[in-house]
Amino acid sequence: MTDFGQGAASGKIILMGEHSVVYGKPAIALPFNQAQITSKIYKTDKEITIDCIYHQGELNTAPDNLYGIKQLINIVLIYLKQPFFGIHIKIESNLPSQRGLGSSAAVSIAVVRSLFDAFQVNLTQETLNHFVEIAEQIHHVNPSGLDATTIAFGKAVFYQKDIGKSVIPLRMDAILVVADTGVKGLTKEAVSDVKKLWKSNPNIINPIMDRLEELTNNVKVFLENNEVVRLGLAMTEAHQLLRSIDVSDDKLEELVDVALKSGALGAKLTGGGKGGCMIALATNMEQAILIADSLKQSGAAHTWFYDLKEIIT
Ligand code: MEV
Repeated sequence: MTDFGQGAASGKIILMGEHSVVYGKPAIALPFNQAQITSKIYKTDKEITIDCIYHQGELNTAPDNLYGIKQLINIVLIYLKQPFFGIHIKIESNLPSQRGLGSSAAVSIAVVRSLFDAFQVNLTQETLNHFVEIAEQIHHVNPSGLDATTIAFGKAVFYQKDIGKSVIPLRMDAILVVADTGVKGLTKEAVSDVKKLWKSNPNIINPIMDRLEELTNNVKVFLENNEVVRLGLAMTEAHQLLRSIDVSDDKLEELVDVALKSGALGAKLTGGGKGGCMIALATNMEQAILIADSLKQSGAAHTWFYDLKEIIT
């Protein structure tokens, strides 16, 4: 079988503002190009089938997400005026799912790109955003739109729900170590748990969200001015605030602690939490390698390096 359409998408890392972004506060997220989802389209007879997605032997998308992907494909085929077109779609990935790295938004974006490629229709940023918002609604229920925006746009963004995004030029002399705890975390559940906390204790949760907002605004300035030490302190404080709203877990706590003890300038969970990934800030690659080694010795399933000077916008 030869494919007649292809699409790809990378993941994302949230530097600051996960969870508070759901409450209208700003967030800063980076495209995570170290891992990718690719989607290939093959013609079949009036049926939509999807290949299971594997990452290091692990199912890379929750089975209920497959239903969401089928719904998305149907919606796109109707838009493309090909509602009865049968397709087989093969999605490959080295981006672990349910780790706060944006795999569900990345799958949707890769799939939409491959369908438009297959039917040779030009895909504008607006149309892509439209479909990915639909897909994220199916997966997550009321997402902030941060994942979809960062991945579709492919640049570091300062983002606020209902307001939009601006691009942040990355020119900081520092390396982020990204570590996978190996523990799955469901963003949908974490967001709904925080919502329950917020509804029952608004007087406690609102000031936490306000402080996360302040920290995110500060971090934007730190990034612009190459203030690495201050970025590290803000990251660690953000982690403590996220822990206080109960979205951390034992493994995240352990890895954040190990990173700080190994010389990281700051460390925090990234994404929805309750499992998933953490990030640690290192001044250079030598230090980043030492931190990554310590994290692996403490059970991190995978580590990656992210150069905060890499992307020139
Ligand atoms: C998603 O990666 C992170 C959260 O902020 C949820 C959202 O933005 O929709 C927890």
